[in-house]
Amino acid sequence: MQKSILILGACGQIGTELTYALRSKHGNENVIASDIREGSEELMASGPFEILDATDYDALEEVIAYYEIHEVYLMAAMLSATAEKFPMRAWNLNMNSLFNVLTLGKEKKIEKIFWPSSIAVFGTNTPKSDTPQSTIMEPGTVYGISKQSGERWCDYYHHKFGVDVRSIRYPGLISWKTMPGGGTTDYAVEIYHKALSEKKYTCFLKADTALPMMFMDDAIRATLQLMDADGDKIQIRSSYNLSAMSFTPAEMTESIKQYISDFKISYDPDFRQEIAASWPSSIDDSRARSDWGWKARFDLKRTTETMLENLGGEKI
Ligand SMILES: NC(=O)c1ccc[n+]([C@@H]2O[C@H](COP(=O)([O-])OP(=O)(O)OC[C@H]3O[C@@H](n4cnc5c(N)ncnc54)[C@H](O)[C@@H]3O)[C@@H](O)[C@H]2O)c1
Repeated sequence: MQKSILILGACGQIGTELTYALRSKHGNENVIASDIREGSEELMASGPFEILDATDYDALEEVIAYYEIHEVYLMAAMLSATAEKFPMRAWNLNMNSLFNVLTLGKEKKIEKIFWPSSIAVFGTNTPKSDTPQSTIMEPGTVYGISKQSGERWCDYYHHKFGVDVRSIRYPGLISWKTMPGGGTTDYAVEIYHKALSEKKYTCFLKADTALPMMFMDDAIRATLQLMDADGDKIQIRSSYNLSAMSFTPAEMTESIKQYISDFKISYDPDFRQEIAASWPSSIDDSRARSDWGWKARFDLKRTTETMLENLGGEKI
């Protein structure tokens, strides 16, 4: 039987591309996109869409029953930078939406759940380089606290109630189809847009701030691979470390200069510098590799080529 899938927060940076990927895999009609707002014209035209608030349990239950949903991808959340401005709203959205889908799993109304965590679960006391899967986690941001709590609840619902919930700690994600939604790594997308339109960019992080990053195609592939893996291979039910590349704004600038030689960067760090400084600079993802066969394909060079080609419309 063909399974039906619901994506919550489908109009965001990840949700948009996840919707396209799942639709090409399972058929447009079998993948229901939903969000509290409408998405791009392309997304809206690509298949069924519902306006749905992920914190509204009754509305969620109704949509799940109506479309006979098997699998839910919960992408609705408030991201790190925005969450510092609205702590209670972030907590309510990030936690209540998760409890709603975990409860639906516990009640056997859905079979499988994907919920993303983040490198924001780590804090200043965490080993910064090659951060292990299991280590000190003392997040210093509202967003990180919500993600760490979420991880514990996922693990708890799996072990107590047998809920099949799977998760990845995404690093900063770089994509060209949709702009990022208020995170600390947003510079790594904005910089390409500004390099092409103005040949200059003012970065809100310092030149030497190394952060783990990933190109969107890798993140989507990892998500589908994790969800397709046999349940007994998924040994970690909190969330998997996942890695592809790590670089600083200065290194990214050099990579762009290979193609736009007169590109200029300046630095004007704001409150996001402090958040970035509390996160790892690189991640050890050996458990994702050994448990379900993860391997990244995009490094910084390939990411820069793909971003400039797609945003600039020219073959690099
Ligand atoms: N983008 C990244 O670099 C990154 C990194 C680590 C983890 N993540 C996680 O991945 C998930 C998706 O992130 P994203 O970058 O696509 O975020 P985004 O901000 O781009 O998208 C979130 C979407 O959720 C929607 N939304 C907000 N409130 C909602 C509600 N009550 N009900 C339904 N929809 C609602 C928004 O309209 C938006 O379209 C989040 O859990 C985020 O924490 C993202």
